[in-house]
This record gives sequence, C-alpha cells and structure tokens, in this order.
Amino acid sequence: MTLTIRPRRLRTSPRLRRMVRETRLEPGQLIYPMFVREGRGIREEIPSMPGQFRYSVDLLGQELERVEELEIAGVMLFGIPDPSEKDALGTPGYLEDGLICRALREARARVEDLLLIADVCLCEYTDHGHCGRLLEDPPRVDNDGTLELLSKEALAYARAGAHVVAPSDMMDGRVGAIRKSLDSAGFQETAILSYAAKYASAYYGPFREAAESAPSFGDRKSYQMDPANAREAVREVRLDLEEGADMVMVKPALPYLDIIHRVRRMSEVPVAAYQVSGEFSALCAAFAQGWLNRDQTVRETLLSIRRAGADILLTYFACEVADRIRRGDWNE
Ligand code: PBG
Ligand code: ZN
Repeated sequence: MTLTIRPRRLRTSPRLRRMVRETRLEPGQLIYPMFVREGRGIREEIPSMPGQFRYSVDLLGQELERVEELEIAGVMLFGIPDPSEKDALGTPGYLEDGLICRALREARARVEDLLLIADVCLCEYTDHGHCGRLLEDPPRVDNDGTLELLSKEALAYARAGAHVVAPSDMMDGRVGAIRKSLDSAGFQETAILSYAAKYASAYYGPFREAAESAPSFGDRKSYQMDPANAREAVREVRLDLEEGADMVMVKPALPYLDIIHRVRRMSEVPVAAYQVSGEFSALCAAFAQGWLNRDQTVRETLLSIRRAGADILLTYFACEVADRIRRGDWNE
C-alpha cells in the first residue's frame, strides 16, 4: 500500500496514546454535589441515586474530610429542611441559623482547602416548591420580588463561610442583585458561579426526590430554559457575565454538549458543566444491569464533557473518579 498518512501510527502504544491525548481530567477540576438535611446521626442513601447520601450536619464533617483528601476542588451543598419549616417565601433558606449556614460553619471548622460552594435557590425551602416567591391570579413566579430573597440567601451563605455562591433559580437579574448585596456587605471576594444556561430538564427527577423539591403545581418552564434553544443560552451567559458572574455553568451536561461548546467559545471565564442527577441515575441503572461498564463509561462521559469545553465538572461520580485518577487507573 502507498498510504503515507496513517493516523493509527499514533495509537500503537499506551504511552504514545497518552502523549497525544488532547483532553485530561484531574481531581482539582471536580465539584461534588452533596445533600444536607436536618436531624442528627443521619446518613441515608437516596433511593434513586445509589451510593449518594443525605447527611445531617453532624456527620457532614467527616465526609468532607474524605472529599478533601481526594483533592477534589470543592463541594456544592444543597439543603433539605424539615418540611414543617417550609413557607411561601422560602424563609429557612436565608435564616442565619438555617441548615446550610450551620453546614457551612461546620465545614469551615473541619476542612481547610476544600472550596465550599452553596447552591442559592428557593425551591428546597418553599412550601410550593417553586424557585421564587409567587404572585397570585394566576399563580406565577414573581421575578423581581424574588431577587431580594435570593440576595439575602447568598449573603447569609457568604457570612457563614461559603467561598462561592451558585444561584440556580434562573430569575432575570439575579447575578447583578446578588453581586450588589455581597459587595455592599463587604463580601467582594465571594465568587459567583451562575447556573447561566439551566434547562427545564427531565433529568432533574432524582434530585427533586432527593431534595423533596418538586413543584407542587405546574412546572419550571417559565424560568428554566427550553431544551430546544441554543442561541438563547448564549444570551443568558452574556447577561450573567455583564452582571458580574465569575464563572458560568451549563446544566445538564451530556445532552447539552453543543451548548457547552458554544459557551466555551463565547466567553473567557471558566465554564462549568453539571452532570445532573438523572444523568447519574440512568448510568447507574445500566451499570446495575450489567449493560454498561462502569469505569469505562464514566471516563468516556466525563472526558466528553471536558472535550466539549467544560473546565469544571460537577458530578456525583466525583469521588470515585478522583480515587481512580489517584490510583493511576484512569489514563489507560
Ligand atoms: C434547584 C436545583 C435543581 C438542581 C440543582 N439545583 C433542581 C431543579 O431545578 O429542579 C438539579 C441537580 C440535579 O438534578 O442533580 N433549583
Ligand atoms: Zn430551584
């Protein structure tokens, strides 16, 4: 044969393949989402998310020490208050002695380097399960009236020790409102990771079960994005950057690789992608059936998200991946 160009030449040995590998993943790029609940001595597995747990604040610390040892960048904390404390305005989300504030103070006392990122939203704290306060007749989410509550929540988390706040509500103008309230209280150094392009996705199902945060009526389509839209994601990202977002997120991840790619190309800030609960659970179901190989599939999936352009990965697989990278059986 007279073939002169043979791409296979660079695939002949593990060393060679590793040398020409274009995309890498390290524990320092991973963020591990965790659920914190009320109570004491509780570490309960989430039925639809095998291997993921809800922790009471007293058991959170030792888990955070384990995560820190794995050299994962940080954790994203979600709160699950007592259902009886929820109200129309999501008050338990911004009380100084609320669940996430206590968790953050406990975390600050237990770990030194681990980044503490607090999800800022109201759906876990409202009795109606929507991400903002409501207007009546017809019931709908009040964008501007919600900004003040989100700002309060972000500020409470910054005061309690969050390094980064991550608004996930998708209200217009929330990044600007949060930046302003953080700055005027002296928290100029608290960074904002905005869920900039967050889609109204069926893949949040297991999370809503885990966090007991499903809306009690309607859906989130009037604030989260339509899965059919891509240009709109660019617009959302641009607005969040103008309002002062330090990092932007695309969510979910694998079904939205094109969005990750577009966001990567249009912005200079770090881009995060959230492999959400449904992505995790669907893979786990296939692993349990023996239909997909866990290690290979997790690696391929996360590398795909990195290849599309994400710098930072939020994933429920963070701990097992960090462990594999450390043991050296990631870069086969
Ligand atoms: C709260 C929030 C959700 C997720 C992160 N923050 C759920 C939702 O919007 O209903 C989903 C995360 C996951 O599915 O893993 N707004
Ligand atoms: Zn929400």
